[in-house]
Amino acid sequence: MKTSMNRRAWLKSGALLAGGLTLLPSGLTALAASPPVSALGEQLTDEAALLGSPPQIKARLLANENPFGPSEKVKQAMMEALSTSYQYPAMYARELVQKIATFEGVTPEHILVDAGSSPLLQAAAIHFSRKGGAIITGAPSYRDLPDSAKDLSTTIVEVPLTTEYKLDLEAMEKKVDATTALMYLCNPNNPTGTVLDAAKLKAFTERVSQKVPVFIDEAYIDYLPDPQSVTMIEAVKKGQNVIVARTFSKLYGFAGMRVGYIVAQPETIKILSKYAVGGMSISAPAIRGALVAYQDQAFMKEALQKTLASRQFLYDTLKLEGYSYIPSSANFVMFPLKMDGKRFVEEMAQRGVGIRNWKFNNQDWCRVSIGRMDEMQAFAAAFKQLS
Ligand SMILES: Cc1ncc(COP(=O)(O)O)c(C=O)c1O
Repeated sequence: MKTSMNRRAWLKSGALLAGGLTLLPSGLTALAASPPVSALGEQLTDEAALLGSPPQIKARLLANENPFGPSEKVKQAMMEALSTSYQYPAMYARELVQKIATFEGVTPEHILVDAGSSPLLQAAAIHFSRKGGAIITGAPSYRDLPDSAKDLSTTIVEVPLTTEYKLDLEAMEKKVDATTALMYLCNPNNPTGTVLDAAKLKAFTERVSQKVPVFIDEAYIDYLPDPQSVTMIEAVKKGQNVIVARTFSKLYGFAGMRVGYIVAQPETIKILSKYAVGGMSISAPAIRGALVAYQDQAFMKEALQKTLASRQFLYDTLKLEGYSYIPSSANFVMFPLKMDGKRFVEEMAQRGVGIRNWKFNNQDWCRVSIGRMDEMQAFAAAFKQLS
């Protein structure tokens, strides 16, 4: 069979061990052995999935939110900010920029904040689409920026993931040509939860950014054991043509408050700020909360531990039911389904569980966001009825 042939060839070449795929459950290694070839079909956004989800949802596992946040301290700061919320938030936005700049060792001119990272992805999509050309991205990966650019007639070059479901840096670099306007990478990657090797990414970024700007979406980086050793803000500090996007929507638990930022060369920040509202688009309670939340190590550690416990529970549930999964470095897990994805989502929704489905490599997949333990138990109970 084609699949087992591929797998054998792989094992022979040693690529499996070199790539660390020994961590994959056995079912998945077989799946991983078939090269990802198919292009992506139409995919819902998280927003559309949320709007389409049933109102009586027990387990909200479809938008990669963090139900363990924000912290009590942060909520207190937000409440206190309400009484002066007749004031514009400009000085708090400036304070937040200063705080991030100090932590990262860059100047405030290297930073642009906005109401979540989405408006900044949008700003980049607009700017890099102005002269036409192409944007290179992984498939499947986060679609927000490429989809916005596509609406502006930019060509989107989708490069399939590797057999380990990681962004294929080598193949992506080969796609760079005179028409390339931007290289977009999501690390850790949404929806697969895989993370790139830091040394490889560093070398890639250094080489590629000499030819085209490199945009690295680090929305989920806070879920890694040591984000500072993986972030490409280091590349910005070295003067490279790199844009790094961060958000408070994930580990900080601010998805509903809307705070995000990018770090890039001051000239890039100046250009992108033409297409974004910036600090004035964030409400004062959100910024005051973000000032308290930013790098609150005690809170981050606790939220991370709870996430990891829920993620382990999900892994155990899937294993017990005879399913494989892609080991995740983020707050969501992707696993191959044994039934039609759309039907699975509908059946789970009827049982009060919101999840998302994907289709790629001729396979239906489910992405489960990591929630509270009671939500994961609700997932497990519903899943057992369908698996
Ligand atoms: C990879 C990635 N980037 C950016 C975003 C946008 O997040 P926000 O606008 O809430 O900062 C998301 C949201 O899920 C995401 O998954």
